Amino acid sequence: MNIILLGPPGAGKGTQARRLEKERGMIQLSTGDMLREARNSGSEMGVKVARIMDAGELVTDEIVIGLIEEKLQERPGGGFIFDGFPRTLAQADALGDLLARHGQALDAVIELRVDDDELVRRISGRYTCGECGEVYHDDTRPTKVEGKCDKCGSTNLKRRADDNPEALKTRLMEYYKKTSPLIGYYYAKGLLYPVNGLAPIDTVAQEIALVLDGRPGS
Ligand code: AP5
Repeated sequence: MNIILLGPPGAGKGTQARRLEKERGMIQLSTGDMLREARNSGSEMGVKVARIMDAGELVTDEIVIGLIEEKLQERPGGGFIFDGFPRTLAQADALGDLLARHGQALDAVIELRVDDDELVRRISGRYTCGECGEVYHDDTRPTKVEGKCDKCGSTNLKRRADDNPEALKTRLMEYYKKTSPLIGYYYAKGLLYPVNGLAPIDTVAQEIALVLDGRPGS
């Protein structure tokens, strides 16, 4: 099964993708994580995208499609959770073509619906483990021991460079201008499943499970 988690910055895509990995053995393909990895490695592409990401703008379709294509080749059997990809209609078309070329299909697009005030609250309180990538929040999901990752015990907890009010404004604008048209695109393909992303993390996970297990043929 291949699915997309679609939603604005802070909607909970990464949080839910990690749970799906753990619970269903699926593979999270986060273009945001791939791009951050590239920038941390200091590669030519990483240097090129760093400024764009920090400003909250979208990286070019060509770069992210190339990253996804590489990952699809690595695991021909599928089982992917696309997190933060596609983000434009061109990327959505490219994903359809890539999956078809690998003899695969898209099974569901889960749209996480969250209002803007909540997104701002979530982004401003978010921090992640620099070692294992576990995601936390100052108020709703703090680490059990202050300054120490629950999952791997690392003390390398970080806040993202683009999690600031100025970049968030741009990220939201990019979402509404370039990514939200995908809601209609996937609705028309009969693949869209909206989920209330405002609910607590466990409830959102249950709603997603209901969608994935309740689809015809699943
Ligand atoms: P990316 O890394 O994809 O960031 P994003 O889409 O802005 O999404 P986030 O990671 O901020 O949020 P999320 O929905 O995963 O929420 P999370 O689970 O962390 O992209 C970053 C940048 O890379 C882009 O701006 C762009 O420059 C570039 N890029 C990436 N992909 C691209 C593409 N395809 N094309 C072009 N450019 C691309 O949750 C947020 C917080 O809320 C956490 O603290 C969490 O604990 C908390 N939380 C989660 N769920 C709940 C809940 N139900 N209730 C309460 N709190 C919750």
